[in-house]
Amino acid sequence: MRILDTFTPTRTVQTVTEIGRRAELPSSTAHRIVNELVNAGLLERDEDRRVRIGMRLWELSTRSSHALRLRQAAMPFMERVQSRVREHTQLAILEQDEALFLERLSSPASGSNVTRVAGRLPLHASSSGLVLLAFGLPDLQERVLSSGLTQLTRATLSDPHAVRSKLAEVRQLGHAIAPGYIEEVSTGIAVPVRDETGRVIAALSVVLPRDAESDFAIVELHRAATDIARSLGFRS
Ligand code: PHB
Repeated sequence: MRILDTFTPTRTVQTVTEIGRRAELPSSTAHRIVNELVNAGLLERDEDRRVRIGMRLWELSTRSSHALRLRQAAMPFMERVQSRVREHTQLAILEQDEALFLERLSSPASGSNVTRVAGRLPLHASSSGLVLLAFGLPDLQERVLSSGLTQLTRATLSDPHAVRSKLAEVRQLGHAIAPGYIEEVSTGIAVPVRDETGRVIAALSVVLPRDAESDFAIVELHRAATDIARSLGFRS
């Protein structure tokens, strides 16, 4: 896991020496384990003997049943949001106290967006994260609020009291608006997605230019979230 964890959304190819250094393993150990992982197909080597995550690992992890089921249920409605709002549209779940993105749809004309598929964003600083936090368990909220909230831009809420009142607002409105929280130029807007039991299991969001009109996007997001929940079996 220490070796696999050295791969990130932006660091996808490494030499074994770099892997060993980042995993804090002796060079011989890094070489031995990387070889075993390559033989098993979990890592792959390119022509320059640099190492990347193997397709076998992608194949196994993509079978993760609940992420796959959710993504499949969400896709048609994400496509509708993307084609009507014409901005980045993404789906995130809660994973180890961060928002993990399962899918992102964009068109070439869409503006800036730091979200990556299989990438993560902090809960307090993204619209998706705020939705997952607002509808999450109280101990998640306590853990995140006491964890030191990183200030990413001038607009990021880094004071626990400010985040707490934002979460109350998110629950009351039923959506989160995060203007400039993660990058100055964009506003994230997210709504909760429920499963068949009515529990919030994901956040559906769009990323708009900072000062764009948000009402239409909010209506489309709510409509999509309702349709996703219904296709998962939720009957309101
Ligand atoms: C957000 O969800 O708040 C968000 C995500 C990515 C961005 C901007 C905002 O680039």
